Amino acid sequence: MNVGGVPYRAIFTEGDDGQVRVIDQTLLPHRFETIGLDSTADAARAIRDMVVRGAPLIGATAAYGVALAMRTDPSDASLDEAIALLASTRPTAVNLRWALDAAGVLLRGLPPSERAQAGHDLAARLCEDDVHRNRRIGEHGLGIFREIANRAGAGGRRRELNVMTHCNAGWLATVDWGTATAPMYLAHDEGLRIHVWVRETRPRFQGAGLTSWELGQHGVPHTLVSDSAAGHLLSRGRVDLVIVGTDRTTAGGDVANKVGTYPLALAARDNGVPFYVAAPSPSIDWTIEDGAGIPIEERDPAEVTRVWGVDDDGVERRVRVVPEGTRAANYAFDVTPKRLVTGLVTERGVCAADGGALRELFARPGSPATGPHGSGVVDRP
Ligand code: MRU
Repeated sequence: MNVGGVPYRAIFTEGDDGQVRVIDQTLLPHRFETIGLDSTADAARAIRDMVVRGAPLIGATAAYGVALAMRTDPSDASLDEAIALLASTRPTAVNLRWALDAAGVLLRGLPPSERAQAGHDLAARLCEDDVHRNRRIGEHGLGIFREIANRAGAGGRRRELNVMTHCNAGWLATVDWGTATAPMYLAHDEGLRIHVWVRETRPRFQGAGLTSWELGQHGVPHTLVSDSAAGHLLSRGRVDLVIVGTDRTTAGGDVANKVGTYPLALAARDNGVPFYVAAPSPSIDWTIEDGAGIPIEERDPAEVTRVWGVDDDGVERRVRVVPEGTRAANYAFDVTPKRLVTGLVTERGVCAADGGALRELFARPGSPATGPHGSGVVDRP
């Protein structure tokens, strides 16, 4: 996607030595800066500190993190150490394990002398596949947007199609396109009139800071609302559909995503508003049926008690918003049970959030459902 007219991906390589670079998302929307990742430790730090975030981008960064280890020391011990370090960074997004499994299986089967190049090639391929996958999700999602717009008489001159999203499942959370945002970009580009309600997404404001920023860069009309305003908008018929991303969707169809997704799904169901999840195959955990088995990240309570931004004089500040000493808990994700999900939008098409439907969709040979991690796992639709 473009930033000030210049095409960018959320992770890319640059220069003769192929330096890995990422956009520092901790600085957005106030500053746009890219930084180089020169070691496995850099990649791990970037994931842990949320310089990069979003399930697909976490996976892509981890793959490059392994490749960087192989550049300096391609031994088995170095490979194991790199994978262990990267695996420990964040617990919920299954794309991390998926990418590390793919790298581990591939590189362990090669002589050390070939691992640096193979690691780099794999990371580059995972990134390309991510872009293709998201584009396909966009096309399938666009079909849903068109159908709902037709039914509601929206999307044209009479009125816009109102879409609500949570957190940032945009191109910043992937390599490009985003998952939940891909249909928004395609709809906007083909002239379907859409308007996006962007939930701010406390405590880290990925909606306010990142989704608003990227939709703004692309010219997609949007309005920021507080998380708690969703019920009001849904109950007044101001939302035609909800679409969010996922960090881990179980084989049974339960969906872990940014905290606040579950109450949003409840409110959508209560008001008869379709609730879709953009779910690329690397975000599906085929080893778990029930969402209760998904590890939920708990982060530093300071993210709840402090906020960061720019004051009216343009100075960046972090300020405390609670009485000093207030105890806070910071759960980063929640699980939306499959019964509240209207459909999963995958690169293979749209299916019910249901184990049988998911397995059927991915039952083709070479799919993640049938192939071991690292072989059938890299799926170009
Ligand atoms: O904590 P974050 O910012 O990494 O959480 C991101 C989300 O919850 C996204 O919705 C999810 O990773 C899907 S991104 C395509």
